[in-house]
Amino acid sequence: MRTSVLAVVGALVASVQAIQKVTRSGRYLYTQDGNRFYIKGVAYQEQGAVVADPNNPFLEPSNYIDPLANGTVCQRDLPYLQQLGVNAVRAYSVNASLNHDTCMKMLSNAGIYTIIDLSLPVNGSLDRNSPSWTTNLLDLYIETIDSFSGYDNVLAYNVGNEVVIAANGTGAAAYVKAAARDVKAYLNSKKSSSLVGYASIDGDATWLDPLANYLSCDPSGSNSGSAAIDLYGLNNYQWCGNSTFQSSYAGTEGQFAGYNVPAYFSEFGCITSPPRLWTEVGALYSSQMSDVWSGGVAFSYFPAQSAQGQFGMVTISADGSTVFVNNDFTSLKTQYGSVTPPNIPTQSSAGSTAYPSCPQPNSSFVASNHLPPTPNLAACQCLQDHLSCQFTPQTQNYSGIVGPLLDYACSLVGQAGGNCLALAGNGTTGSYGPISGCDPSVMLSYVMSEYYLGTNLNPQSCSFAGNGTINHNAPSSASAANAAASSCLSSATGTFTPQAPSSGGSSGGSSKGSGSSNGASVASSDAKAVYYVGVMLAVGFASGMWTLT
Ligand SMILES: *[C@@H]1O[C@H](CO)[C@@H](O)[C@H](O)[C@H]1NC(C)=O
Ligand SMILES: *[C@@H]1O[C@H](CO)[C@@H](O)[C@H](O)[C@H]1NC(C)=O
Ligand SMILES: *[C@@H]1O[C@H](CO)[C@@H](O)[C@H](O)[C@H]1NC(C)=O
Ligand SMILES: *[C@@H]1O[C@H](CO)[C@@H](O)[C@H](O)[C@H]1NC(C)=O
Ligand SMILES: *[C@@H]1O[C@H](CO)[C@@H](O)[C@H](O)[C@H]1NC(C)=O
Ligand SMILES: *[C@@H]1O[C@H](CO)[C@@H](O)[C@H](O)[C@H]1NC(C)=O
Ligand SMILES: *[C@@H]1O[C@H](CO)[C@@H](O)[C@H](O)[C@H]1NC(C)=O
Ligand SMILES: *[C@@H]1O[C@H](CO)[C@@H](O)[C@H](O)[C@H]1NC(C)=O
Ligand SMILES: *[C@@H]1O[C@H](CO)[C@@H](O)[C@H](O)[C@H]1NC(C)=O
Repeated sequence: MRTSVLAVVGALVASVQAIQKVTRSGRYLYTQDGNRFYIKGVAYQEQGAVVADPNNPFLEPSNYIDPLANGTVCQRDLPYLQQLGVNAVRAYSVNASLNHDTCMKMLSNAGIYTIIDLSLPVNGSLDRNSPSWTTNLLDLYIETIDSFSGYDNVLAYNVGNEVVIAANGTGAAAYVKAAARDVKAYLNSKKSSSLVGYASIDGDATWLDPLANYLSCDPSGSNSGSAAIDLYGLNNYQWCGNSTFQSSYAGTEGQFAGYNVPAYFSEFGCITSPPRLWTEVGALYSSQMSDVWSGGVAFSYFPAQSAQGQFGMVTISADGSTVFVNNDFTSLKTQYGSVTPPNIPTQSSAGSTAYPSCPQPNSSFVASNHLPPTPNLAACQCLQDHLSCQFTPQTQNYSGIVGPLLDYACSLVGQAGGNCLALAGNGTTGSYGPISGCDPSVMLSYVMSEYYLGTNLNPQSCSFAGNGTINHNAPSSASAANAAASSCLSSATGTFTPQAPSSGGSSGGSSKGSGSSNGASVASSDAKAVYYVGVMLAVGFASGMWTLT
């Protein structure tokens, strides 16, 4: 009788059709049945609080509402997502501590994939003005991946959104690429088939094209994809109103012809010529573009304010119970419903992905082919344990004080003839200080210790107005401190497969982020902890101060 019970269970399981795994071959995406997969998506995230400020020209939100954590909301919205005919939603910020089962399973059962951005507002993203790739950020990304790893409908994880926004900021691409490398290694170690993506702002071809090529290239020149993104996203708002392929997309199409990995429009839907007709859908999913682009994500389901104006396809009643759709919704639904993108090439003729060598840096694209090392939590924790003066914040919300304190401590060290070079990295020169991968709070302990040791262990010099505590177990001479620090950090220079932190391992950072916001073409320019370090680097060079070399 045992067999028949199993047979019945098997039949029941089979009757709920599981969502198909999506994989890439060459530069295309395919479902398990061998058909090409095109993303027909919509951005799905209620906008967080936006503080209008001259320092926030792109109106980036300062907090977020996890769109996949409230089952009531997902149940409310699912019929509308189905009416739109989407097969994917993009979520810009999610909270790894919350439960996503209801939303993720509901979407999966409806055949809807998710594209999950790993970054968070404020201190949870790669900072375009002062980039670093540090243990706290890697651990945040890993925690998010772990909390979504049980779902079968995570199409991709984005390691960044619009981190690079201009030629003079292309050095930050080295950090994006390092993040993609480490996230990819982590996903591989978990046998996850989710893709690693990046979503780029649109821009001048002289830096946009090399950036795309750089993110998908092999710096070692041996056709390895280990440091390459799997999926390139372009936030493209070129098609406005009643445009045409020729006038809006032909140039972009030419720029990306032959691109080596799958690509899609990670945002589209210009609002400058209302009403939105969404006629770009016809072009994007046609043979004019299908050789490069695997579809796109329309921006945005929820209302969203950006520097360009007001987006959105629905409004929600004040009590959160009811959805009202607008003309944007109806038009997009019609357009999505009327396209049938070409089912070519076949998967067998798509080949494997080639990874060309990386573009040579020049004046419009400056990122080095020497990437930051994998952030090494064990090394940074070892360092922290051996530092003689430790940052011990008296507030839970210390992300706002790390920056000013780093600025202050580095200025003291500078006045005494030392420097903060060990904390700094530079994606243009490809040089990364021995502590540049540590959490900013560890960086701060390091600089505090530098100052404390340099003043012959004067207890006052570890106070920092009550933010520092003397570690009596630490080495108390500069040479012993150097030996201990060097020993901790000796393994922190290379690339390795990261592991999940053992629990409570990561502690906060203070660098404010770019990119995680749910808004079209967003950016941020707040001062950041590591930015302060950069400012202080100019001060002095090593003398009697204790400085790691
Ligand atoms: C994530 O959710 C937890 C649990 O509700 C909450 O304590 C925490 O503040 C949230 N984090 C963010 C950044 O919203
Ligand atoms: C890049 O150029 C812009 C405008 O020209 C300027 O505001 C910004 O500070 C520059 N960024 C860097 C990192 O030099
Ligand atoms: C830099 O190289 C890229 C190709 O990688 C090219 O498109 C761009 O025009 C070059 N810029 C300059 C200033 O030469
Ligand atoms: C868009 O173009 C079509 C075809 O040329 C035309 O019928 C329609 O009126 C135009 N709509 C708007 C809003 O410009
Ligand atoms: C989920 O959303 C509904 C509708 O907006 C709201 O009433 C409810 O409080 C939310 N639940 C949680 C746990 O936030
Ligand atoms: C944390 O501190 C920053 C600045 O120091 C402040 O802007 C922010 O509102 C604080 N957050 C909370 C949750 O108190
Ligand atoms: C990185 O190095 C380049 C080239 O030396 C320099 O122009 C740039 O200012 C440096 N960036 C930082 C943040 O120090
Ligand atoms: C810690 O440093 C911050 C920033 O400089 C300062 O506002 C605060 O008073 C200091 N002391 C304590 C106990 O937080
Ligand atoms: C951001 O800062 C808060 C403290 O204000 C900290 O709890 C959190 O871990 C930080 N996040 C990251 C990714 O560093």
